[in-house]
Amino acid sequence: MDIVDSIAAFRARLDTARAAGHRVGFVPTMGYLHDGHVSLMHAAGAAADVVAVSIFVNPLQFAANEDLASYPRDLDRDAERCRAAGVEVVLAPPVEEMYPDGAVATTVSVPALSGHMEGAARPTHFAGVATVVAKLFNLVGPCSAYFGEKDFQQLAVVRRMARDLSFPVEVVGCPIVREADGLAMSSRNVYLAPDEREAAVVLHRALQAGVATVLAGERSADAVRTLVADVVAAEPLADLDYAEVVDPASLEPRHGELVPGEELRLLAAARLGRPRLLDNLGVVVPG
Ligand code: PAJ
Repeated sequence: MDIVDSIAAFRARLDTARAAGHRVGFVPTMGYLHDGHVSLMHAAGAAADVVAVSIFVNPLQFAANEDLASYPRDLDRDAERCRAAGVEVVLAPPVEEMYPDGAVATTVSVPALSGHMEGAARPTHFAGVATVVAKLFNLVGPCSAYFGEKDFQQLAVVRRMARDLSFPVEVVGCPIVREADGLAMSSRNVYLAPDEREAAVVLHRALQAGVATVLAGERSADAVRTLVADVVAAEPLADLDYAEVVDPASLEPRHGELVPGEELRLLAAARLGRPRLLDNLGVVVPG
């Protein structure tokens, strides 16, 4: 496995692979890799001949008051995890390689999908994500790129950006990988104190309660949303940010009567001590 810190070396490696007829699978990350990230590498490896990973804690997607400086990092351990997952090439660039001029003069944003949920809590976040992912897609070239449903709104933003701007990239969404008790894996889970770690499973429990009530015949979107919010609010260590019920394709909040056969995504975010945690589950309205 090659670990490169230059865009030119990464691009050359992937151009050579494609010239030899190999399909490229790409997994962008911010490192501190866990089994959720590794599942994306395995999905990429199952469909592609060459798997490329990027590890870059992207300053553009952090606001000034957020955890950029303390974001967990461990490149040696990450390299080991990539090697074990069969990755061929890792790009781990310094900030100056990605942003040689310091601030960027060009940004990419997807306002239609970025205003609510995560975007309400973090108004500059998705433009930072879309900009770095556009840049990564440009330097990787034609590929399939793997993203986790864990960050469901991010996946929608990236999918729409790739489509609107005609990137030669197939965006593939992959299921959420969870701890044994149901907590969605996240690099930020290391911030949780032991009592917060125990309480953190409330997000998954609340979403499961929302799914269960839909499956049991609840037809009011607002009642489902309220139930999810109430379960999170009952946990004293959790500070609910939002609970939402949306159309999974448009991310439009659902209100009123649910229709049999329609797909829903239930999403929730809450702060537990220091970290803000996200989770979501899908359900099809029965009947
Ligand atoms: P990061 O948080 O490192 O996540 C990288 C990828 O791993 C994302 O697609 C994310 O959805 C996925 N992922 C994280 N936890 C997961 C889990 N428990 N199960 C399945 N997939 C999971 O998301 C980012 O980095 C950045 O915003 C990035 C896209 C790299 C742009 O900087």
